[in-house]
Amino acid sequence: MRAITIPEPGEADALVPTTDEPTPMPGAGEVLIKVAAAGVNRADVMQRKGFYPPPAGASALPGLEVSGVIEALGADVTGWVIGDEVCALIDGGGYAEYTVAPAAQCLPVPARVSLVDAAGLPEVVCTVWSNVFLTANLQPGEVFLVHGGSSGIGTMAIQLAKQVGATVAVTAGSAEKLEACRALGADILINYREQDFVEEITAATGGAGANVILDVVGAKYLERNVTALATAGRLVVIGLLGGVKAELNLNTLLSKRAAVIATSLRARPAAEKATIVAAVREHVWPLVERGAVTPVVQRTYPLEQAADAHREMESSAHIGKLLLTL
Ligand SMILES: NC(=O)c1ccc[n+]([C@@H]2O[C@H](COP(=O)([O-])OP(=O)(O)OC[C@H]3O[C@@H](n4cnc5c(N)ncnc54)[C@H](OP(=O)(O)O)[C@@H]3O)[C@@H](O)[C@H]2O)c1
Repeated sequence: MRAITIPEPGEADALVPTTDEPTPMPGAGEVLIKVAAAGVNRADVMQRKGFYPPPAGASALPGLEVSGVIEALGADVTGWVIGDEVCALIDGGGYAEYTVAPAAQCLPVPARVSLVDAAGLPEVVCTVWSNVFLTANLQPGEVFLVHGGSSGIGTMAIQLAKQVGATVAVTAGSAEKLEACRALGADILINYREQDFVEEITAATGGAGANVILDVVGAKYLERNVTALATAGRLVVIGLLGGVKAELNLNTLLSKRAAVIATSLRARPAAEKATIVAAVREHVWPLVERGAVTPVVQRTYPLEQAADAHREMESSAHIGKLLLTL
């Protein structure tokens, strides 16, 4: 089958197209998907560079989410039939003509969303739902700050937080990106290149701070994030674009009775992923089906141009998702 391989870690050219990768076989509880499109994620860039090896048992090919048509069923699969159009959260192997997915990590392609665009939903929806709602328990009327508001994650986080009635603040690196966040519903827009996000969020909330912060920057923002939290606030770190090691004054955390949590979706056991996917199907899919929440897709590239998609992602010029099509 056609696929993108990583023979050696490196820059974008390390992504090498092939036409003779063996087609995977679905095991028990898995389905074989003929891929229509695959989402591109920062994690794929890290894997390509050799910093994020696939978990044990996962495909060595990159790609954490796909959309397509079910081509075959493994043993003990219920709820899906051959020919169903699905999108799926997978542990790897999405940059390929065929991939296998646990049946419990598949979702139907929602009404109003094209088969291709559906590939941009599983990773961001599952990440945002699990962290912002299941873990940080964002409530109506609370203030939610998401860093990298124009990222794939950010564009979904804004929309879902607005749906529950939160006030949404974002940081982003340009006026154009902030305008895209405003169009998705963001209320408080902070250009982190020109403004101090702690000062801005503090002023915008009358000194109270943010109840929940979703952070992709990590070390560089840790102390400022905790300063920007409200009493009983929850900071969830899901990315480390600004480094891994930082110092924190625990007294600030203690006096606010605040929490710092860090998570990784890929590392969760299959049963936890299945629980998250089921919650997404129950709570988020109806919003997508009625058009209240939409995938934001910047651009699609043919699979064989995966290296160009990675270059665009690493330039950080994009807004929303980049997809590879077959
Ligand atoms: N833990 C998990 O389970 C999980 C799951 C999915 C994603 N993630 C993480 O979430 C992050 C976003 O993923 P994505 O796929 O949505 O990526 P993405 O679309 O490429 O977005 C990343 C954005 O972050 C901003 N950025 C980049 N470097 C930065 C820096 N040093 N400081 C501040 N902002 C920076 C950029 O926007 P600006 O121009 O505004 O700077 C960029 O658009 C990644 O770190 C990814 O690894 C984690």
